[in-house]
Amino acid sequence: MIVQLTEALTQRRSIRAYQDKAAEPELIREIFTLAQQAPSNCNSQPWHVSVVSGEARDKLEAALIERVSNGQKPVSAFKPYDIGFVGDFKERQISCAVELWNAVGIAREDREARTELFLDNWRFFGAPHVAFISMPLNMGEGNALDVGIYLQTLMLLMVDRGLACCPQGALALYPEPVFEIAQVPDDHGLLCGVSFGYADMEADKNKLKMPRLSVDECVTFID
Ligand SMILES: Cc1cc2nc3c(=O)[nH]c(=O)nc-3n(C[C@H](O)[C@H](O)[C@H](O)COP(=O)(O)O)c2cc1C
Repeated sequence: MIVQLTEALTQRRSIRAYQDKAAEPELIREIFTLAQQAPSNCNSQPWHVSVVSGEARDKLEAALIERVSNGQKPVSAFKPYDIGFVGDFKERQISCAVELWNAVGIAREDREARTELFLDNWRFFGAPHVAFISMPLNMGEGNALDVGIYLQTLMLLMVDRGLACCPQGALALYPEPVFEIAQVPDDHGLLCGVSFGYADMEADKNKLKMPRLSVDECVTFID
């Protein structure tokens, strides 16, 4: 299925429940091949991507869930995602979580249900595939911008080809088993993971359509 860019852009959303159906390896390869068209500073292409499916995916899920459930401390190779989250940014972070709890009917005070939902990150939300995106450890913000462009290119291609995904900073927080099982280059740091597959659109979690600021709150037009 080929859809127009505007359609792909408005259709795409973070998908947190999947059908029990793997994508064809040829389709996966086609999507990741096309994503290589993403532009980057000096054509440096600083991203490395490990796509994990099948038994390796299940092994990785078990290793990650064990770590998170045992309360292992998360670590970040780069500056944490929530750096600078004060004021409006903090409020948006909180309402992002609250919107999800509301969509699945979890009360704010139900800690247990919230923890289970949080743990779903490391179950890849039931997706049959997960990609881990890294860049060299000696790189910084400018290079991360390139990886961000790559990420959006990848996500739109998935929509274009009938797949769905969820980008996840959470998947960068327990790097040990990821480096081992997903064969991430030694001199790289993880930026995020992307769970992907066919969306289960019956799931409440996937009914969520996150709001955005208006254009005038983010863009200044000057004549
Ligand atoms: C870099 C990045 C990291 C993210 N990390 C997570 C995550 O760890 N877990 C999660 O459930 N969603 C994660 N998200 C999804 C965001 O919550 C989501 O993009 C945002 O709320 C907007 O919703 P939408 O993607 O459905 O439009 C992440 C998104 C991005 C771009």
